[in-house]
Amino acid sequence: MDSIRTGIIGIGNMGSAHLHCIASGKVKGMSAAAVCDIDEQKLGSVRGEFSNIALYNDWRSMLKDDNVDAVIIAVPHPHHAEIAAKALKSGKHVLVEKPVDITVSAAESLNSTALSSGKVFGIMFNQRTNGLYRRAREIVKNGELGDIKRSVWIVTNWYRTQSYYDSGAWRATWRGEGGGVLLNQAPHNLDLWQWICGMPSAVTAFCNTAKYHNIEVEDEASIYTEYPNGATGVFITSTGDSPGTNRLEISGTLGKIVLEDGVLKHWRLKENERDVCASSKEGFCSIPFEYEEYKTDEETAHRGILQNFTDAVLHGAELIAPGYDGIKELTISNAAYLSEWKGNTRVSLPFDSAEFDKLLNEKIMSSSYVPDTKTSLPENSDYLKRWQVRW
Ligand SMILES: NC(=O)c1ccc[n+]([C@@H]2O[C@H](COP(=O)([O-])OP(=O)(O)OC[C@H]3O[C@@H](n4cnc5c(N)ncnc54)[C@H](O)[C@@H]3O)[C@@H](O)[C@H]2O)c1
Repeated sequence: MDSIRTGIIGIGNMGSAHLHCIASGKVKGMSAAAVCDIDEQKLGSVRGEFSNIALYNDWRSMLKDDNVDAVIIAVPHPHHAEIAAKALKSGKHVLVEKPVDITVSAAESLNSTALSSGKVFGIMFNQRTNGLYRRAREIVKNGELGDIKRSVWIVTNWYRTQSYYDSGAWRATWRGEGGGVLLNQAPHNLDLWQWICGMPSAVTAFCNTAKYHNIEVEDEASIYTEYPNGATGVFITSTGDSPGTNRLEISGTLGKIVLEDGVLKHWRLKENERDVCASSKEGFCSIPFEYEEYKTDEETAHRGILQNFTDAVLHGAELIAPGYDGIKELTISNAAYLSEWKGNTRVSLPFDSAEFDKLLNEKIMSSSYVPDTKTSLPENSDYLKRWQVRW
C-alpha cells in the first residue's frame, strides 16, 4: 500500500477541517475517499464541492466500503468508542477525535478491541506536537528537574460564549456530551499534564456547574492530584474567563520550569534542594542556579497528527498519540466528576468504574436541559487557531 484512503465520520466543525486538509493534499500518502454524516445538508455541501468522495448517512454502511482503509471519527464524544471498535473489527485503521469517549469503561473495552485488531489506532491529541510541551516532557523524563514535587497548571484561556454552547443540541448536556470543560476543551491539557508529569494516584476535585453559562454541566473546575512519589498537582480550567491564562509550572528537587507566554523558563539548581536543606548551616539561603529560556514555533498540530498516523499505517512510524493513551486523561476527568459527585471526596486511582457509570447514567437519565440551538458554528475549510496552543 502506498496511500491510505480515508473515510471521515462526522463532518461538522472539526471533521470538515480534516476533510479539507486531506482533500487538498496536505497529508502525504492520505486521500479522502468517503464521508459520513447524519445531516443531509452537510453531505450536500460535500457533494457540491468534491465529485470523487463517496457519501454515507450511516457509518455502518461506510465500514463495509472496501475503498476505505482508515476512518477518522469526529462525531460527538459519546459515540467515539462504539464506532471506533466496530471500525477496527471491520479491518479499518482508526484515528479518533479527543476525548476517546466519555467513560473509562468504554475506553477500556475499545483498547482491548484495538489490541486484538492489529490495526493502527491513534487519537487526535494535536497539542502533543507543540515544541514547548515536547521540551517540557523531555526535561522531566530526562530527570533534569530531579524528583517532581509539584505541578500547577492554570489553563483558563478556553473562553466560550453562550452562542458557542447554543450551536449544537448535544453540547454541554449530560446526555449529549457527558460533561463540560473537562470533557470538551481540557482533554488536551489533561493529556499533556499526564504525558509530562505521569499519572496521579488520587484525585480530589471541585466542578462548578453552569457558573458562567446557561448549560447543564461544569464550565469551571479545580483538580488536586497526588502522585505515587508524594508529589502533588493543581489544575484549574474554565470557559468563562477573558482574558484567560495558560501557565504550567513544574517544580522538582533540581529546579523548576514555567511555560507561559510562549516561553519555557528553566531554573537549574547547582545542588539538589533536598541535600542543601539537610546539610546547610544557614537558616535562610538561596541555592545558586543557571537560568535559560527556550522558545520555538514548532507545532504541526492536526495536520502533523494526520501525517504521523499515515506514516504509522504506511511505514510503521511510532505514533505521537496512540489511541490507547486516550484512557489516561479520561481517567483524570472521570475521577474529578466522581470526586465532585461524592461531596468532593478523595478518589484513589484506579477508581470503581461501575460506580462512575451508574452515577453518570443517573445524570443522563435526569438530563432535562435542552439547549436553545439558535446559532450554528460555520463549517471549517481550515483548522481554527483556537484549537492550537494559545498562551
Ligand atoms: N482536536 C481538536 O482540536 C478538536 C476541536 C474541535 C472538536 N473536536 C472533537 O471533535 C468531535 C466533534 O466536535 P465538533 O465540534 O466537530 O462537533 P459538530 O457538532 O460540529 O460536528 C459533529 C458532526 O457529527 C455528526 N454526527 C452526529 N452523530 C452522528 C452519527 N451517528 N453518524 C454520523 N455523523 C454524526 C453531526 O451531524 C455533525 O455534523 C468532538 O468529539 C470534539 O471533542 C476536537
